[in-house]
Parts: sequence; structure tokens; C-alpha cells
Amino acid sequence: MPNTATLEINGQKHEFPLVKGTENEVAIDIKTLRAATGGITTIDPGYKNTGACESAITFLDGEKGILRYRGYAIEDLAQKADFLEVAFLLIFGELPNQEQLEEFHSDIKAQSLVDDDVRKIIDAFPKSAHPMGVLSSLTSALTAFNPSSVNVNSEEDMYHAIVKILAKFPVLVAWTLRKKQGLPLDYGDNSLGYVENILKMMFKKPNEEYVQSQVMVDALDKLLILHADHEQNCSTSTVRIVGSSHAGLFASISAGISALWGPLHGGANQAVLEMLEAIKEDGGDTKKYMAKAKDKEDPFRLMGFGHRVYKNLDPRATIIKVSADKVLNDLGVEDPILEVAKGLEQEALNDDYFVSRKLYPNVDFYSGIIYRAMDIPTDMFTVMFALGRLPGWIAQWREMRLNNEPIGRPRQLYIGETHREFKNIKKR
Ligand code: ACO
Repeated sequence: MPNTATLEINGQKHEFPLVKGTENEVAIDIKTLRAATGGITTIDPGYKNTGACESAITFLDGEKGILRYRGYAIEDLAQKADFLEVAFLLIFGELPNQEQLEEFHSDIKAQSLVDDDVRKIIDAFPKSAHPMGVLSSLTSALTAFNPSSVNVNSEEDMYHAIVKILAKFPVLVAWTLRKKQGLPLDYGDNSLGYVENILKMMFKKPNEEYVQSQVMVDALDKLLILHADHEQNCSTSTVRIVGSSHAGLFASISAGISALWGPLHGGANQAVLEMLEAIKEDGGDTKKYMAKAKDKEDPFRLMGFGHRVYKNLDPRATIIKVSADKVLNDLGVEDPILEVAKGLEQEALNDDYFVSRKLYPNVDFYSGIIYRAMDIPTDMFTVMFALGRLPGWIAQWREMRLNNEPIGRPRQLYIGETHREFKNIKKR
């Protein structure tokens, strides 16, 4: 394979190096493009062809349906690791040994108190506020309660900020839910595992003993692992780009939460459930909705189908589908929504429109069904996604800062008016 790419513009040739990743992916390094060509730039809406960074965290091959964190297959991690181990792996690059894991967990627990004044902020939100808006605001507010900026040249400072957000974020998630449900805020129980504690903080009633369900713990652990990172997606790129201005970790994560909220990204899990419910209410006619999704005059899209990079089965969807069946079975939940989902999936997998465009169910097609079985309200689904994605955002932010990446600042092709003479308001 050649090691340069040649670009010819107006008879002049420019050479650019080809760079290869560890999985043999090839990229054209155009760092010198503007300087070499006198300011010519590239246009790539949605960055479909743009590698924004070099990263050693997550590898995915959308054609083959492969997803690996730090080299480990998602299937192995979902089956054999727990969420905190995966968080450590993503952030620091290696699976922790027992001692490292215990120390990591104990450092997190030591930071798990959220300033009591944060309650005042939550109280100011109406109960009707969308939990993603509340979570993003609360995460941003953490900056005000922890004002010292992170010295990224100090591993110790960096570690401190990381364990702080890993500790306080689940509390904010649980408080967001409890506020919505009118339950008193709870500080959790540091004697529990990370995921067990999250569930207890979310669901404990003030007048009842909370009984832990292993089925729920296992299901949530797996869902969080499956969502933990996904290389340079919309929210992760947001975290990196905000962090690249040297804004702090909490502010960068808060921006990532806002990016995740949209229905084309993390908000899809809520949109999927709402769509499945609407189809059920409308008599369960999946064919009608398949036709709507294919009609270019109709803005309806089959939520939970398609993915920017997976042009084959999303491996996370395969794992989650099995998990959905098991969780519903173990919890004794019979949900007619699952039948609607299976019907839609079967039809889409055999429909030329979906097959030819390589539109397969993505991770969020089935995650909402599990969350629903766990009694998590629909508008909290994307919050649960954010909880899982937190270690990925942290890992990507840390990598970006340690690599001393330049501030993210894309170019554009200006297509507006050329110079115009200013007209006095009376003459317009
Ligand atoms: N239903 C119907 N048609 C679809 C769908 C869908 N869900 N997704 C894509 N298409 C069609 C498009 O209309 C387009 O058709 P055309 O070639 O005839 O114009 C073609 O497939 C390609 O679609 P694009 O929008 O160009 O694909 P892109 O890679 O930009 O978008 C996206 C990917 C945003 C995920 C899209 O598939 C979508 O909107 N899916 C539904 C929302 C969803 O489930 N999002 C969650 C993604 S996973 C995550 O973020 C965790």
C-alpha cells in the first residue's frame, strides 16, 4: 500500500501522508492541507469522513459489528466484568487487579457526598422538567460547588476530579428521579457496590426497607457496560471539544449530557418506547408504521433503527435483546410492547428498504424495554444512558487533555452575502 495520498489542484500536486491505526484503518493526514494549498479547506457535514483525533480507547468496526474497549470484546466485558472494572479500564487503559479496584471504589465512596445546597437547586426545578435538562444543570452546578480547576499536569489532581464525578453523578441521577417522583432525596449507602447503591438511591422508599434484586443489579450493570463508550459519537465529541478549550471536566460532561439528550442520539431510547407505545395504542399495526418510515414525505423514522457507523448488527443490540428476554422473564413482567418490538424488528430485517440501507436495530431498540421492566420512567431512560456513558466521557476527556490536543475549531465554506454597504435605518 502506498504511504502517501496525492491531491491535484489546478495541475499542482500535493502529497499527504497516510497513517495507519493498530487495526489497520487508514487515514489521510491533512494537517498541512491549508498551508500547502493556500487556504483550501474540506467540507464534511456531520464529520462523516473526518477523524477528529487519534484515540486508544474504543475500537469499533461498523461493517463487521465489532466493539472493543481497550482491546477487550464488548461481549466478554458484558458477561465477565462489572461496571466499575469497565470504568477503570476505559479511563486508565488496563483492567484493575483486586487491590486497584477496591482502592478505586473506596476513593469514589469517599467523595460521594453532594453538597446539601444542591438540593436548593433541585427544588427550584418544576417536577415537569425533563430529567436530562435537570441532570445537565446539576452537573454544571457541581463546578460551582467544586471550583478549583484541575491541573491536568498532575495525575493526582486528574484522578481526584475523576473519582469526584464518578461518585457524585449517580447521586444527581438518583435525585433527579426522586424529585420527579416526590420522594425525599437520599444519600445512598457506602456499604454497597456501585451499581447496587445506585438502585437503592433511586428506589428506596422512606417507609420501607429496600430489598435488593440481583436480577435488577445484573441487568443495570450490563446496560451501563454496554453504554460506557462508543468512540467519537456526538456527545463524546462534544465533551472533547468543550474540554479542548480547557473548560473543566464537570462543565465538559454537562455539555455532553445536553448533546446526548437529542432523539437522534441518546434520546432515542425514550423515543423508541414512545413509538412502541403509540403503535400498540394504534392497534399494533406494525406494517402501517413500516410504511410511514419508508415514506419520504413522512418525517416519521423507525426509532432505534439505523446507526451512523454500524452498517451491520449493533453488537450491543444483540446482547441486550437476549438480556431483555431474560430480565422480563426473571422479573415476571409480561409486556406487550416486547411483542410489538419483535414484530417490527422481524419486518425490518426482511424489508428491502431497511436491508439495502443497512438499517438494523441499535442498542436503544431494546434498552427501554428493560428499563421499563425495572420501573424506570420513560423520560429517565436517557439519564440512565448518561450514567453508563460517564466513564467513556471521562476517558475521552482525559486522553484529549493528556495528549495536549489543540482547541477544537472547525472551518467552514462561507456562502453568505459578499461585502455590502451599510444602509442607514431610514433608507432600508
Ligand atoms: N427509519 C427510516 N429510515 C431511516 C432511518 C430510520 N430509523 N434511519 C436512516 N434512514 C434512512 C434515511 O432516510 C436515508 O434514506 P435515503 O438514503 O433514502 O435518503 C438513509 O436511511 C440513510 O440515513 P441517514 O440519516 O443519512 O444516516 P445517518 O448515518 O446520518 O443517521 C441515525 C444515523 C441518525 C442514527 C439515523 O439512522 C436515525 O435517525 N435513526 C433513528 C434514531 C435512532 O435510533 N438514533 C439512535 C442512534 S444510536 C445512539 O445514538 C446510541
